Formats: sequence, C-alpha cells, structure tokens
Amino acid sequence: MQEIIRQLEEKRNRARLGGGEKRIAAQHAKGKLTARERIELLLDPDSFEEWDMFKEHRCTDFGMDQQSIPGDGVVTGYGTINGRLVFVFSQDFTVFGGSLSEAHAEKICKIMEKAVQVGAPVIGLNDSGGARIQEGVASLAGYAEVFQRNVDASGVVPQISMIMGPCAGGAVYSPAMTDYIFMVKDSSYMFVTGPDVVKTVTHETVTAEELGGAVTHTTKSGVADLAFENDVEALLQLRRFMDFLPSSNREKPPVRPTADSHDRKELSLDTLIPDNNNKPYDMRELILKVVDEGDFFEVQPGYAGNIIVGYARMEGQTVGIVANQPMVLAGCLDIASSIKAARFVRFCDAFNIPIVTFVDVPGFLPGTAQEYGGIIKHGAKLLYAYAECTVPKITVITRKAYGGAYDVMSSKHLKGDVNFAWPTAEIAVMGPKGAVEIIFRQDIGDADKIAARTEEYRQKFANPFIAGHRGFIDDVIMPHSTRKRICRSLAMLKDKKLERPVRKHGNIPL
Ligand code: HXC
Repeated sequence: MQEIIRQLEEKRNRARLGGGEKRIAAQHAKGKLTARERIELLLDPDSFEEWDMFKEHRCTDFGMDQQSIPGDGVVTGYGTINGRLVFVFSQDFTVFGGSLSEAHAEKICKIMEKAVQVGAPVIGLNDSGGARIQEGVASLAGYAEVFQRNVDASGVVPQISMIMGPCAGGAVYSPAMTDYIFMVKDSSYMFVTGPDVVKTVTHETVTAEELGGAVTHTTKSGVADLAFENDVEALLQLRRFMDFLPSSNREKPPVRPTADSHDRKELSLDTLIPDNNNKPYDMRELILKVVDEGDFFEVQPGYAGNIIVGYARMEGQTVGIVANQPMVLAGCLDIASSIKAARFVRFCDAFNIPIVTFVDVPGFLPGTAQEYGGIIKHGAKLLYAYAECTVPKITVITRKAYGGAYDVMSSKHLKGDVNFAWPTAEIAVMGPKGAVEIIFRQDIGDADKIAARTEEYRQKFANPFIAGHRGFIDDVIMPHSTRKRICRSLAMLKDKKLERPVRKHGNIPL
C-alpha cells in the first residue's frame, strides 16, 4: 500500500511539473506564471479540485508516441472564488505550447458540461499555440466541440476568457463566444491571421502586439473588455469581477452586505450639470457617487468612451450600469457604443442583473462614416436589446434625451419600469437650435428672431415636464436623492415578472 501511494505521489509530481523545469523557467522569463500558479492565484486557497490530471493524448504520428505528458497541456477542475463555485481550465504553455489536442479538448468539454449542469461559471485561462499541429483534423474537431459547448452554455452560466499568452487562428473563436474577454498587456495576443500572413497578403508590416495585443483589442477593435498589466493583477481583478456575477441564469445576482445607507444624500450632484447645456461633465462622477461605496467595475473603459458600462451594487445587490458620457462625442450614440451597450444589456438580462441607465444623449452621431458603417443596423441592436430585456430597468435622464436616442435609452416605451428625470432634463425631438433652424427656416437670416424662437422652444420643450404630463417620466427627482430613489425602485421591483412571447428566438439585427 505504501508503495502504491508513493507511486501515485510520483505520478502527481510528474504531472504537476508539466513541460519540465526548463520550460517553466522560460515561461517565467517571459513574465508569465505557469498554468498551476495562475489557478492558485485565481481560486481560494486549497479549494482547487483537479480532474483528468493523468489524461494523455492518443496521437502516434510525428514521434508523438514517444512524447506524452500527463494532463496534456491543460489543467482543469473546479474550486471557489470567495466561497462561490467556479470551473476553470488553464492551458499549460510548457506542454506542447499549450496546443489543443483531441484529449485536451475533451478535458475542457468535461468541465464545461458539468458547469452547465450544476450552474457555475466557466473561466478559461488561455495560453496556447492553437491546434496541436501533429494531430491535424482531430484537433480541429476538438476546437469545434469546445465551440459547441460555448454556445450551449451561453446565457446559462457566465463564461469568462482570460488571454494570457498566444491565441491565434480559429482558436480565437472560443473566447469570442464567451461573455467577457480580458487580456494581459505585452504577453497576450489574439488574431485570426498573424503578422507574417498579413505581410504576405496585404503587405502591411505590423507586430503581434500592434495587430492583436491587449491595448489593440481594448481600444481599437473592442474584442476584449479589459487589459491588465500582468498575470497577478489580471487574476486578482478577475476575482473581484466574479463577485458581481450570479453563478448561473437560475440565480439572482449575489448580495454583499454594505454599510452605505440606501438614502445617502449626495448634495454635490445638485451642481453636477453645468449652466451651459453644451458643456460636458463627467458622468462617471455621478455613477461613483450613487453606487454602494463608490465601487464600480467598468468594462471596456478604453473603447467607445461615449457610453459607460459596468457593474456596481445598490444596497448590496449587483446592478448593471449603462450611461452616456457627455465628455466623449458629447455622449452621442454611434456604432461602437451601440454595440458595446447592447451586448452589456443582453448579458445583464440573461443573468437577472437589473439595469440602471443614466441618460444624457444628444442623439445619434451624424456623418457618412456612421451611415456607411451601418449605424441603422448597429443602433438597432441597442434598441432591440433594451426592448427585449425583462430584468428591472431604471432610467434617470440627467440632461439631454433627444430624438430616437431618447427612445433607445431604456425609455418608458421600451418597458422601462421606473423612469426618472432630473429637473435639468431636456426631452425633445432635437435640441432647440436645430429644431428652430428647421421649423423657422424662413427666419434664418434674422438673428434676433431665431434667438427668440430658440428661447421659446427651449422654454417649451427643454424640460422634463412635457414628458411628465404624459406619464413617460414617473417623477422629476432631486439629483441629491438619486441613490435613494433608485434603491427604493429596485426594492419595489425585486420580484418583477415579465414574460416574453413564446418563440424559438428573436432576430436581433446582427
Ligand atoms: C504543437 C506546438 C504548437 C502547436 C507550439 N508548439 N505551438 N506544438 N502544436 N500548435 C510547441 C513548440 O513546438 C515548442 O515545443 C513549444 O510549443 C513552445 O513553442 P515555441 O515556438 O518554442 O514558443 P514561442 O517562441 O514562444 O512561440 C509561440 C508560438 C509558436 C508563437 C505560439 O510556437 C507558434 O507559432 N506556434 C504555431 C502556431 C500555429 O500555427 N498554430 C496552429 C494555428 S491554426 P518544444 O518541445 O520546443 O518546447 C489553429 C487552427 C484552429 O489553431 C482552428 C480551430 C477551428
């Protein structure tokens, strides 16, 4: 018996060593942690239960029958983050470059299936050279098996991808189908075709970092949601992020006790809006002052800055925040911001997270770039997402709510549950100047007349009361009481039920 136990321990140690000391040193030299070190940082101490530690590939070509490493380049299992169950796979770059074999894929699929059955998130720590070249189509089949499970799990359990090394070719499509993609700066990249192929085909010279690094994907393409400085920061922030999410679509979002009183007044909000309505102000300041303890986990902060999205808590309960940002493009909706917010709204809706929307939007961004780029279709995504969403929806219009963008931003007409306006709100078809220049075009040469007409229009429409008369706004509230009014509304909506008509699925304008 002693001997058998010793042998087991030996086998375990062999598996734990992955590709060996030399390759581990090379991994560290690149500033990267190993697959197991990453899991240790991500999960609560001593909570990891590993599966398939002894699984090996079945490939016999190209000398592979002579090389087998237990675990086959991916560490899989489950554990807890702040006491809550998560499933995790962590690709081991020291073993065949973390490349995906048939066996490697089977390990990932196994934990994904269990995660869906028990209702717990799946976290993938990606660090892989892609398809295991020696395996050919067996490896491609493995990828497709993972893709199918990504789709099956979508909207059932949260799926998070942390890219911590290479992720190239078709391999990018598994992270692409998860809910969030986070990346580590300087050591991770994602692209469909690498710099060499790009050079051959388009004659562009570009580095891997420029083509698909963390900064590129969090500022230019919007493929990734956050970029972190290094592995340690990435994993600690991922722990913080997971605290906001429910474990599955069967659950309500977690509640964390808070000392922040629900009726805390924020008097400084009464002076947040500048007297000149063309002057910007920082919408982030409003968010930080309203949510519990100023704790806001923003996603995609570097992309489409004209809209802010992220997670916070109100009276301890997670909420999703969507807010126009007047500091960027005056808060206009454009293609990128519509897509960004639509995806966020759909995630919240899938996982029972109430949505609080702060509105200051002068309209959709004009221009050929937007029209040719398809703002009609892409803007419709956000409209569609809000309209189909059945979680509690609370809206606060702080200033401008003009035109179609007023309708889109969680208006009463899209089944907004509670719609507030600050006294500074202006709810109209368009801003006074633009409106007067159209309906009094004949007076354009007469500056005094135009000024008088503009003032008349402003008096009549640039306020929240016309919408209030019609019941499109439930109340005009004091800015300083915004937190209290939102908290009360959320409490009232706690058991909201709204059924959607039965259908296979809707047809969101993709
Ligand atoms: C098998 C691989 C591998 C792979 C790397 N290795 N990628 N083994 N299949 N795809 C092995 C290497 O042989 C090496 O083994 C070890 O991993 C480390 O690789 P290095 O090249 O030494 O590391 P580095 O210099 O850091 O370069 C990393 C890399 C490079 C950029 C990822 O290895 C690379 O270009 N690999 C090939 C990438 C690729 O073309 N993959 C297929 C993409 S197509 P030793 O024994 O020396 O340590 C694809 C299709 C998916 O993935 C389709 C899904 C639908």
